[in-house]
Amino acid sequence: MSAVATPNTGVGFEPATRPPKASGDGRSRPQVISGALLTLAAAAIHFAVAPSHLGVYAIHGVFFICLGLVQVGLAGALLFAARRSLLVGAAAGTAAVIGLWLASRTVGMPLAPVPWTPEPIGFTDFAATLLEAISLLLFLLLIRAPRRPRRRGRIRVALSSAPAFLLAALLGFLGVGAGLTPMPAAFNAAPEIPGQASTSVASLVAAAGNEPLKTFTLTAGVTTVAGKAVWAYNGTVPGPELRVTKGDRVRVTLVNHLPKPTTIHWHGLRLPNAEDGVAGLTQNAVPPGSSFSYEFVASDAGTFWYHSHQDPLGQITRGLFGAFIVAPEAGRFAELRDYSLLVHNLKGGDAIGVNGTPNAHLAANAGDTVRLRVINGVLPGLDGAPLTPVLLGVPYKIAALDGHDLNTAQELLPQRIPLGMGQRADLVFTMPADGAVTLVVTGTPPLLPFSRAVTASVTLGTGSLPRSIDVSRLPRFDLTSYGTPAPDPIGEATHFDVSQTVLLGGGPAFRNGSFDFTDTFNGVASPFAPPIRVREGDLVRLHIVNSSPKSHPIHIHGHVFTILARNGRPLTGSPVHVDAVLVSPNETWDVAFRADNPGIWMLHCHVLGHAAAGMSMTMNYEGVSTPFSMGLLSGNIPE
Ligand code: C2O
Ligand code: CU
Repeated sequence: MSAVATPNTGVGFEPATRPPKASGDGRSRPQVISGALLTLAAAAIHFAVAPSHLGVYAIHGVFFICLGLVQVGLAGALLFAARRSLLVGAAAGTAAVIGLWLASRTVGMPLAPVPWTPEPIGFTDFAATLLEAISLLLFLLLIRAPRRPRRRGRIRVALSSAPAFLLAALLGFLGVGAGLTPMPAAFNAAPEIPGQASTSVASLVAAAGNEPLKTFTLTAGVTTVAGKAVWAYNGTVPGPELRVTKGDRVRVTLVNHLPKPTTIHWHGLRLPNAEDGVAGLTQNAVPPGSSFSYEFVASDAGTFWYHSHQDPLGQITRGLFGAFIVAPEAGRFAELRDYSLLVHNLKGGDAIGVNGTPNAHLAANAGDTVRLRVINGVLPGLDGAPLTPVLLGVPYKIAALDGHDLNTAQELLPQRIPLGMGQRADLVFTMPADGAVTLVVTGTPPLLPFSRAVTASVTLGTGSLPRSIDVSRLPRFDLTSYGTPAPDPIGEATHFDVSQTVLLGGGPAFRNGSFDFTDTFNGVASPFAPPIRVREGDLVRLHIVNSSPKSHPIHIHGHVFTILARNGRPLTGSPVHVDAVLVSPNETWDVAFRADNPGIWMLHCHVLGHAAAGMSMTMNYEGVSTPFSMGLLSGNIPE
């Protein structure tokens, strides 16, 4: 049948003395079985991914079903009779499938949701291709003139096929599991229920009014900072500091010149839900070339920030963030020098800086009153470890946390002030008669092995620098016993309309088309964690329990937590109002708030990698629905 230099048989390379086995060939049985098993595992993965592809782009779904069927047929035929012609066909077909995959990942395909655009390499396609590549190798070996096949007993054959069996089982299991749990095509966190009246989040906008109007334009685009391509608002990282006065009507137009859709979220501000800037929850991400306008009244004075809430892990880390400062009603800042210090990752993540530089210098004269508004925009390592700024050279007070004043704060000596990502602390002091003041900020950004700490510093004034000390030995500031107690209606409440435990955990699981480490609320990764359901007016208490080995700054949108207790012990100092509570391993925190701002709001860990790995959920007001969805088809990725 073929041009092979073995005259003895018509089917291959069998020595004449040995009759062909049942399969009709003399090829290495374990190799044939291995090739068939690997092909079957690849087929299983193709069947597993077919349904989700059918929903997004039907041609691909049909293709994967057909490919799976052909592979099943091929595996069966191989086991039945591994003829040379079949092996040649198997090798050619498998090579073609691998070639298609390579093309789709490098130049893109003409038949695709977005033609001629490379697709990202995912877990399932990688697993299937790996299986196919090994089977292709086996097919090629089998096509080549075989060595004299050894006669082997069943057990020997089984043992020799075992590695391929294990590999096929493992990759097949992971690939099928991942294929069956794709990122949802479109997930709506609060769909409108037919026949039931509801308010759409899109209608929850600021009421008309004649407050003083402050308008800004933030143009998001790609630019180069210090030789590195970044995504920036108005060409700078951080974006421009926006300063307004309490009571102002703020109108910000976001213009998108990025290659990807984007949004702006106003972190910590209590504003109408439609202005919250969460892609897939309160709006669709703004496509490239379009613009979107946000409008709200700045109702709280204090230190806030803004950042993208579309693919935040990708977009904030590229540079899309800035400070948002609201002056008290008088329109005056209490201190002569009022600086916002946005701390963020530099150089692609392995260094930190303040307002764009690792060593900033700010003007201040002896006797000046100073407020430093420290904003933590640093993406930490996977352990979520907080930033720990330390102020050296002057006694100071922590006047506010997350923009909310503390009651009669006492002066502090140098301490490490733990700030989870997104959290803020306002430090207030009077410049000493001689000598400079230094803020040393220590963090452990994600790209460093073994969580090596890096520092940035800000120096104020010109005198001699404060004596440098080992800041890692300093005590940690404790917000539960700082300042003076004061009446607080929520802090003293004894009855709560909604009381809920939020368990912080995680572990390996199939999610978003991959097998990954997930971070979870109550054991469930987003978007499937059941929402917290509230009614307008409810007093809500959350009991947050951290059973994971990581630190989690748990952040709520549109509301402010009153901290009730840590590890069951009520606060002994000033009432504390924050939009994020830093929950360290093995801690519990109790927080409460009034549900007084209807909408669909996010509650998530602000370690962006944790949120992206599933630690995100929503708080849904009764009677409110959203027309927006998150997921593959919508293109909205809020975390
Ligand atoms: Cu800084 Cu969900 O936000
Ligand atoms: Cu976290």
